Amino acid sequence: MNIAIIGTGYVGLPSGIGFAKLGHNVTCVDINKSKIHSLQNGILPIYENNIEQLFLEVVNENLTFTTSYSCINEADIVILAVGTPQSNNSEKADLKYIFEAINEICKNLRDKNKYFILATKSTVPVGTGDKIEQIVHKINPNIEVVSLPEFLREGYALEDFYNPDRVIIGSNSDKASKAIKELYSHIDSDKILITTRKSAELIKYASNSFLAMKIHFINEIADFCEKSGANIGDVALGIGLDSRIGNKFLNVGPGFGGSCFPKDTLAMLGMAKELGVGVSLIETTIKGNNDRFKKIANNIKDMLKDIDNPKIGILGLAFKNGTDDCRQSPAIEIIKEFIKNYQNINVYDPRAINNAKGILNDNVNYTNSIYECANECDLLVILTEWDEFKDIDFLKLKDCIKVKKIYDTRNIINFNEAKKYGFDVINIGVKN
Ligand code: UDX
Repeated sequence: MNIAIIGTGYVGLPSGIGFAKLGHNVTCVDINKSKIHSLQNGILPIYENNIEQLFLEVVNENLTFTTSYSCINEADIVILAVGTPQSNNSEKADLKYIFEAINEICKNLRDKNKYFILATKSTVPVGTGDKIEQIVHKINPNIEVVSLPEFLREGYALEDFYNPDRVIIGSNSDKASKAIKELYSHIDSDKILITTRKSAELIKYASNSFLAMKIHFINEIADFCEKSGANIGDVALGIGLDSRIGNKFLNVGPGFGGSCFPKDTLAMLGMAKELGVGVSLIETTIKGNNDRFKKIANNIKDMLKDIDNPKIGILGLAFKNGTDDCRQSPAIEIIKEFIKNYQNINVYDPRAINNAKGILNDNVNYTNSIYECANECDLLVILTEWDEFKDIDFLKLKDCIKVKKIYDTRNIINFNEAKKYGFDVINIGVKN
């Protein structure tokens, strides 16, 4: 098939690479000229596990990049994968990029009777597909507007592309649903659900809200463990063995972040208010998660309260492992909470330093390794669950850190190994 993908971000680009690898002809469109120029020259603007090699195999072969929307005239399917960030002044998603893209599609469409599918992968409020349809059908009534929500996890985008738990198709057109099923012919048909556009739009928000709630739930249980003396590691394992709960998304941490959970839970709140319905569990999750950033920051301040002019080492800036993305990163939000009080903060992240610099500027010292970050520190704090931090060389660390104290907010380091080298490790969800 000929596919045009509008947007070359964390969803559009991996999807374009995936479809091209499957043999489709893919043209990715973006208004960002420098991004398109980099991509045309084989340079990736984002980091994703295993993306580089696949990208180089298809770029400028059956995967091309352009700033022009004219490619939609040859497309069988046009996929909208532009950002829908949270609005500045409300909980709702900002749809300006969606409607700018729709406007460009209408402007560039030459054959006003051409049949093609317009599939929205971007996360959009329930009912947006109807609004898109009203606009495009004024130009061409033969455009089939479909909801095709994306469930890729950053850092695992290609893994989730090739092996998704499900493909949700929101359409009441058999022809369109059939064409999308063909696009996903690499997926077992029992993993493909065809439903209405509005249900497909809500499935996306409800999924992310439930996962965010699950994370907040286990973080609150961790707080309970810290006071009661139970062990969160065993409690999470124990409840996860119940197949109705499942063992995923029960990893404790400093709270959830990223470009999706925070904005999607807020958008659910905004939509619910407009509909006059309550989403109290989601509302509590949002508040509780934001409070957790403050709680972790206060714990750090408390650990340093008796030290004059303390030096802190922070391991992890990305919102999670496997990505360079710092948008709504718990690590960044926590650093912001205490950056005013401390001038001596070293930070290290395997991938996200460049993105973090755009947020933290020169308020912290950027370092190039765990050990450089820990050098002469009174406290080392782990905020992102990078695999590199799971294998810290404690013998090497002992020689550079001033105080052997580690606050591991992801419970990822080997506690007993660290103790062997005399480290005082403070975990989440155990009575320290
Ligand atoms: C999420 C959804 O998982 C994905 O299906 C959707 O398409 C986009 O939003 P993503 O935002 O990339 O994906 O990250 P995810 O892996 O879900 O993690 C989100 C946040 O939760 C991160 O800050 C992560 O560190 C945190 N997290 C995740 C936990 O704290 N504990 C967990 O067990 C899992």
